[in-house]
Amino acid sequence: METLIGQKVHHFLRRGIFFSHRDLHLILKRYEEKKPFFLYTGRGPSSSALHLGHLIPFFFTRWLQEAFNVPLIIQMTDDEKYLWKDLTIEKTKELTKENIKDIIAMGFDVNKTFIFSDLSFIGKCPEFYENIIRVQRSVTFNQVKGIFGFGDSDCIGKISFPAIQAAPSFSSSFPFIFNGKKDIPALIPCAIDQDPYFRMTRDVAPRLSLPKPALLHSSFLPALTGAQTKMSASDPNNSIFLTDTPNQIKNKINRYAFSGGGATIDEHRANGGNCDIDIAFQYMNFFLEDDNRLEQIRSEYSSGQLLTGDLKKELIGILQTIVAQHQERRKAVTDEVVEQFMSLRKLNL
Ligand code: TRP
Repeated sequence: METLIGQKVHHFLRRGIFFSHRDLHLILKRYEEKKPFFLYTGRGPSSSALHLGHLIPFFFTRWLQEAFNVPLIIQMTDDEKYLWKDLTIEKTKELTKENIKDIIAMGFDVNKTFIFSDLSFIGKCPEFYENIIRVQRSVTFNQVKGIFGFGDSDCIGKISFPAIQAAPSFSSSFPFIFNGKKDIPALIPCAIDQDPYFRMTRDVAPRLSLPKPALLHSSFLPALTGAQTKMSASDPNNSIFLTDTPNQIKNKINRYAFSGGGATIDEHRANGGNCDIDIAFQYMNFFLEDDNRLEQIRSEYSSGQLLTGDLKKELIGILQTIVAQHQERRKAVTDEVVEQFMSLRKLNL
């Protein structure tokens, strides 16, 4: 990839935060041959406040968009969250709009990015709905039961939903962008839990004479209290939100971030800290771009030279900056900007 794009790859790739793929080499081969592909990712808007973990796939997608200069499609699955969560349609629509503002604030290029909500787009684009029912006819109840674990008491909306997440993988779902071309493949950066949707998609694609999407999978940002769980919007003390103040960030890291350091300073100086379980160090791995500084911290923390308090202090500074910059950019995202990203239009290909 570095040879093709003539630059170092993103640290999420260098450090194995994006750790697996399907058919990435086919996409790179196309790029080498100057054939088009596009990026597709999405978000289910189930809460108004995004946390740091939500940034991972989007930061990486933004980098891919810049490095490869390709169109990007972002699906907001408000329908999915309506079906799965205890939310009204009105509430899901509100969350969708708020979440889109956060996504735009991550720095996507409006000339190359189309964002849509299922609830509003399906009625505007017959070709998208046609692909949805093509997928629906190609997958049996038995198959989705096997893939997603649906049971007899799940509502039928859930059972048909995977086809709606599958359909944006196909360029023919967006005729206004791809001029009706069916054969442009997607590369989908996503968290690993989304893979089942795309295993299903890849399974049906050849039967519909459509290209299989390629995938790049990320691991999860661990929760503050330890790497056994991922950061989650429903646990405020276990997560850092993009709406947190500098003080909240500082307090949460100091109070809750699980430490791999020694119980006392003497013990820490003698035995060193354990970077593998230390949450502050893990977050550095995600958010500190400078490889040399990261290695220096790793060696000084492991040897006991660097104390947990020092490590946390540096992390707090890094996260406060990321969150403050996000908040600043989000302020600039008006309703008009949202409309621009969501309007059906040609993108710069
Ligand atoms: N189901 C995803 C979620 O709950 C949203 C989503 C839709 C998505 N399409 C996607 C995620 C494509 C990654 C890639 O967040």
